[in-house]
Amino acid sequence: MVDFHGEITSEKMAIGHFFDGSSTGVVGTHTHVPTADTRILEKGTAYQTDIGMCGDYNSVIGMNKENSVKKFLKSKDTIKHFPAEGEATLSGIIIEADHETGLAKKITRLIEGGNLIK
Ligand SMILES: [Fe+2]
Repeated sequence: MVDFHGEITSEKMAIGHFFDGSSTGVVGTHTHVPTADTRILEKGTAYQTDIGMCGDYNSVIGMNKENSVKKFLKSKDTIKHFPAEGEATLSGIIIEADHETGLAKKITRLIEGGNLIK
């Protein structure tokens, strides 16, 4: 498995194609937002540009939304970012792999709990 931790979607896609056929899966992390491009690449590597975060999505990438908005508006009464504490969503993927080749047979996006639409 390759976990590409980065901001840029094009970089993550390029790395997905680079490892296609030699890795069971390539997934992105860091943006905290799950992407809808879940698929198996041409040579058998499961792929998703970002698998999202596990946390409260009624937030700004997991942080308290009121404080985060104030920070973006340059308000003087903000404090250091702190986590939102509402219902959490478990976000990720499940990959079924071929035991002989190590390549992916199936990839399923996992979204459980919270307020994201499946
Ligand atoms: Fe990160």
